[in-house]
Amino acid sequence: MATYLITGIAGFIGSSIAKALEKQGHKLIGIDNLLTGNRTNLPSTCTFIHGDIADQSVYESLRGKKIDAILHLAAQSSGEISFEKPQYDVLTNTLGTLNLLNFAVEEGIGRFIYASTMSIYGDVDDKPIRENQAKNPKSYYGITKLAAEQYVRVFSDRLNTTSFRLFNVYGPGQNMANLKQGMVSIYLAYFMRNEPVIVKGFKERYRDLTYIDDVVDVWTASIDNPLTYGKTYNLATGKKTTVEALLNELKTAWGSPEYPIYFTEGTPGDQFGIYADITQLQNDLGWEPKVSLSEGIHHFVNWVKGEMHADM
Ligand SMILES: NC(=O)c1ccc[n+]([C@@H]2O[C@H](COP(=O)([O-])OP(=O)(O)OC[C@H]3O[C@@H](n4cnc5c(N)ncnc54)[C@H](O)[C@@H]3O)[C@@H](O)[C@H]2O)c1
Repeated sequence: MATYLITGIAGFIGSSIAKALEKQGHKLIGIDNLLTGNRTNLPSTCTFIHGDIADQSVYESLRGKKIDAILHLAAQSSGEISFEKPQYDVLTNTLGTLNLLNFAVEEGIGRFIYASTMSIYGDVDDKPIRENQAKNPKSYYGITKLAAEQYVRVFSDRLNTTSFRLFNVYGPGQNMANLKQGMVSIYLAYFMRNEPVIVKGFKERYRDLTYIDDVVDVWTASIDNPLTYGKTYNLATGKKTTVEALLNELKTAWGSPEYPIYFTEGTPGDQFGIYADITQLQNDLGWEPKVSLSEGIHHFVNWVKGEMHADM
C-alpha cells in the first residue's frame, strides 16, 4: 500500500484516478482549490486539503507525510478561459507546478507524474502527431502547460518524472455545468438542457477523443513502471474524429437523430485538428485503448441521463 498526493483531486480526471487507486487500497491525500472541481467528486477515504498549489503555505501541512508519488492534475484547464484570465493561468499552471516540484525534491518524494496536454502542439499537419514534433501552442493555456512540462523535464535529474499529454478526455464525472472546457461534455450539456447544440467552430475540425477509463488505466499502470521514468507520452487513441462525426454519435446515442445543431464562430486559440501517434506508449506499457468512441459516448450519455433522473 502506497501514499499518493493527487492535485486536482476534485476535478474530472484527478477524481477518476483517485477512485481507482482507492479501490486498489492505497492511501490518498488530495489538494484542490475547487475552481472547477467539486467536493462531491472526492473519494470517500482521502485526506482533503482545500488549498491552492500556487500558495506556498499549502505545502506546510504536507511535510513529513511519507508520500510515495505525486500525481499532478490541478490546473486551470480551459483554453478559452486562459484568454480571459491569462495571469491566473501562469500562476496556477506554471508556478503551481514549479512549487510542487520543489516540494517533491525537498520531501524526497521520488515519483512525479504530470498531466500535460495536446494544446502544447498548436496547429499541426493532418497526420498523427509524434511526441518530438514542434510545439507551438496557440492558447495561453497551452503556453503555461508547456512551460510546466519543461520544468518537469528539467527536474527529471532529481525525480522520476513522467508527463502524459492528454488529448480530449471525456466520460462520466465530467463537469456538465462548465461550458468552456471539454468538447464532448459541452455538446452533451446542450442535449441535457434540451437546447439546440451551439458549436463554436467548423464541423470539419477533428480531435483524438479518449475515454476516461483508458486514461485512468495508463496513469495507474505507470506509477511503478520504471520504463516510463523521464519520459513524455501522448495519451490518446491514435484515432481521428471530426466534430461532425462526434455530433452524429451524440445524436444517435441520445436517440434524437434530428437534434438541432448550430455553428458559430470559433474560440480563440482553438486548434483546427489534431490526433496522436501513440506508439511510444504502446511500446513501453504494452497498452491499447480499450473503449471505442461509440461505446464511450454510449456510457457517457447513460451516465448523463442517470444524473438528470437523480436531479428530478
Ligand atoms: N480533460 C481533458 O480533456 C484534458 C486534456 C488535456 C490535459 N488535461 C489536463 O488534465 C488535468 C485535469 O483536467 P480535468 O479535465 O480533470 O479538469 P478539471 O478542471 O475537472 O480539473 C482540474 C482540477 O484542478 C483544480 N485546480 C485548479 N487550479 C488549482 C489550484 N491552483 N490549486 C489547486 N487545485 C486547482 C480544479 O478545481 C479542478 O478540480 C489538467 O491539468 C488539465 O490541464 C485535461
